[in-house]
Amino acid sequence: MKTLIVYTSQTGFTQKYAEWLGERMQGDVLNLKEAQKKDAAFFDGYQAIVYGGWAMAGRVTKSKWFLDKSEGWKDKRLAMFCVGGAPNDNPNTEVMLKSLLTDEQNSRIKVFYCPGGFNYEKMSATSRFALKMFAASLKKKKDATEEEREMAEKISSSYDISDKKYTEPIAEYLEGNA
Ligand SMILES: Cc1cc2nc3c(=O)[nH]c(=O)nc-3n(C[C@H](O)[C@H](O)[C@H](O)COP(=O)(O)O)c2cc1C
Repeated sequence: MKTLIVYTSQTGFTQKYAEWLGERMQGDVLNLKEAQKKDAAFFDGYQAIVYGGWAMAGRVTKSKWFLDKSEGWKDKRLAMFCVGGAPNDNPNTEVMLKSLLTDEQNSRIKVFYCPGGFNYEKMSATSRFALKMFAASLKKKKDATEEEREMAEKISSSYDISDKKYTEPIAEYLEGNA
C-alpha cells in the first residue's frame, strides 16, 4: 500500500506524527506547501493518502485542501488525523471529530485524533496571544467547571503528550485491518 502523508504544522507536533506514520507505513511525507505544487498525476501513484493538521478552535488547519482533493480520490484509502493540545480521552475531542466531516465525507475518510501538546517557544505571536487570552478568560470565568480550570492551568505553559503509539490505529486502518 503506497502511502502519502501530507501535513501542516506550526510548532512541530503534527510534523512528528506525520514522520512517525511515514516510517511505520514506509510511505512518503510532504509538507502541504510542497504537496500543493504537485500536479494531479503525482497523487495517482499512491493507494493511500493521509492528511494531518493541528486543531485550531475545533477545526483542522488547512483540511479544505485535502477534502477538496479527496473528491477525485474515491478509489484510494483516505484518512485524516488531527493533532491537538487536548489529551486523547478528552470528551470534547470526540465531539470535535464528529463535527469535522459531512456524512458523505465520513463514508470515505476515516478521522483520528493524536494528542500533541503546546510549544510556546515555536508558536507564532498571534497564536501565543490567542491562547494566553483563552487561558485568562477561563481562569476568570466564575462558573468554570473543574475541567475548564484544569485546561486553563495546562495551556498556560508548554507540554508534550505526543506518543508514536497513537499512529498505530491509523496504520492499521490504512492496511485494512481496522
Ligand atoms: C489559536 C489556537 C487554537 C487551538 N485550538 C485547539 C483546539 O480547539 N483543540 C485542541 O485540542 N488544541 C488546540 N490548540 C492546540 C494545538 O492544536 C496544539 O498545540 C498542537 O499540538 C499544535 O500542533 P503543531 O505543533 O503541529 O502546530 C490550539 C492552538 C492554538 C495556537
